[in-house]
Amino acid sequence: MANILNYASFGGLSERCLTPSLLRLLLPACLLTVLFGTVLFSFRDETPAFNKSKAGGNNTGIGYAQHPNPPNGRWVDAWATSAQLTVPLGLPPAPFDSPSGTFINSSIRQTIPVSISTTQVRLKISNEFSNSSLSITFATLALPPNNTAGTPEIIPHTLQNITFGGRRSIQIPPGANGFSDPINLVLDAGSNVAITLYLQDGQKGAITSHDASRTHMYWAFGDHTNSRMLYIKSKATQRAKHWYFISALEAWVPPSYGSLIILGDSLSDGRGSNINMNNRWPNLLAARVQRSNATKHISVVNMASGGNRVLSDDKNPNVMARLNRDVLAHPGVKYVLVYEGLNDVSVAELDRKTQDAVYEGLIRAYQQLILRLHAFNLPVFFATIAPAGRSPWWPHPERERVRQKINKWIRKSTLFEAVVDFDEILRDEEGSCIRKEWDSGDGVHPNGEGFLQMAEKIDLDIFERWKDGVGNWAKI
Ligand SMILES: *[C@@H]1O[C@H](CO)[C@@H](O)[C@H](O)[C@H]1NC(C)=O
Ligand SMILES: *[C@@H]1O[C@H](CO)[C@@H](O)[C@H](O)[C@H]1NC(C)=O
Ligand SMILES: *[C@@H]1O[C@H](CO)[C@@H](O)[C@H](O)[C@H]1NC(C)=O
Ligand SMILES: *[C@@H]1O[C@H](CO)[C@@H](O)[C@H](O)[C@H]1NC(C)=O
Ligand SMILES: *[C@@H]1O[C@H](CO)[C@@H](O)[C@H](O)[C@H]1NC(C)=O
Ligand SMILES: *[C@@H]1O[C@H](CO)[C@@H](O)[C@H](O)[C@H]1NC(C)=O
Repeated sequence: MANILNYASFGGLSERCLTPSLLRLLLPACLLTVLFGTVLFSFRDETPAFNKSKAGGNNTGIGYAQHPNPPNGRWVDAWATSAQLTVPLGLPPAPFDSPSGTFINSSIRQTIPVSISTTQVRLKISNEFSNSSLSITFATLALPPNNTAGTPEIIPHTLQNITFGGRRSIQIPPGANGFSDPINLVLDAGSNVAITLYLQDGQKGAITSHDASRTHMYWAFGDHTNSRMLYIKSKATQRAKHWYFISALEAWVPPSYGSLIILGDSLSDGRGSNINMNNRWPNLLAARVQRSNATKHISVVNMASGGNRVLSDDKNPNVMARLNRDVLAHPGVKYVLVYEGLNDVSVAELDRKTQDAVYEGLIRAYQQLILRLHAFNLPVFFATIAPAGRSPWWPHPERERVRQKINKWIRKSTLFEAVVDFDEILRDEEGSCIRKEWDSGDGVHPNGEGFLQMAEKIDLDIFERWKDGVGNWAKI
């Protein structure tokens, strides 16, 4: 019964699933359901879509197995973010941070938007930048009221306890990730999900987070994983715009589904977008992709990070260094879009020799990126660098010369699969500045309307054209 229900909720794919052989398998189950409907249903209510092994009921974590359902599927990120080392400014203030640890006896509630519809998810928690174990005591998941992002409130009847190998707690070693058991949850693309973590012991030393969530998140002392509302006495000390510890919500979807991972800097991380609005260009692209039946199976995943560079580190590792962690280690990746390079040009010295060296370095690094991604059969889409002429970090003829040179290389290169021409989309008539009406005000980051232009003008045919990967077409 659970099988039939889950396949049906995969929507467009139900036809494909009801092959004659599958029907033969499922038909007896259907008849049984008709005859003993209530019995099967009560069983289903107890363990909605996964099976427990015999030892399961005890929750010892040993011999406990939960299988995603239906069996024929794959995990794909419904949401993910690039994990980073939390910088001092990104830590919560005292008393939530103290010499004995961060978030001791604290509950943290954060919302994330999913970019694909699903019926089953699992949570990924990152301890990748920490140097001590991370102990999550309890974790829950729920829907926020009115699908609101950035709220400390949840709808109580949607609350579900999250388990890890059947247990309520998990201890994640330094440098590692932790994954939850599958959770049954019917989600439409665009839904916000609220995740609440309780850390009895907090964490010592470095902690892992994504710096710029552009979404409010909240914390409070005590275990509030099952509370409707996190009690916030002071927004100054109990609210921030980061994503702590959580790094992906994976969805169990049909095997034909997959993700587009976006590798980028602050322009893709959403600087210039609105707090709690999820209107970064990747969110708007995700919404557009979902509006078309031809691309609905694609989840748009934002692995951008503010300040990110190609050739050297900022407060996050350079894109070459984070390629394994942020792309290749993710299940279900089908395509990669690269929009990187602006920060390398803007932080380099202004003399011609240095700027030319940045150009050479970028082109060589782009080639390295492409050959790594192609080795995993991943089509690569490359974005031209949009103008930043009015930005205080930019204006100089040398930077503009190098930007034009990079964009020329990108437009002419045959090494990757498609060009996404953000420069052409965003520039004004003169060519070295972003159009005034799409400028968030700093001369480089687009506003919501600019982000919409970027999302709406990407050619969606590239997904169909490269749906089978790069195969023998790849030149490198
Ligand atoms: C379940 O746990 C209890 C103690 O809590 C133990 O006595 C029992 O043997 C366990 N059963 C299984 C199947 O592991
Ligand atoms: C949800 O929206 C309804 C209708 O707009 C409103 O009355 C209600 O107060 C909202 N609830 C919350 C918790 O925001
Ligand atoms: C979750 O676990 C708590 C105990 O920590 C329990 O009180 C609550 O009923 C559980 N919620 C659900 C939905 O199972
Ligand atoms: C762990 O990281 C913190 C913060 O970066 C640092 O102060 C501490 O010395 C590190 N500890 C070890 C054992 O590396
Ligand atoms: C955890 O915080 C709650 C709420 O402030 C408090 O009641 C409880 O005593 C604290 N527990 C510990 C062990 O400090
Ligand atoms: C998209 O698919 C749904 C469900 O199969 C169908 O009802 C709808 O007409 C399709 N829309 C378009 C524009 O083809």
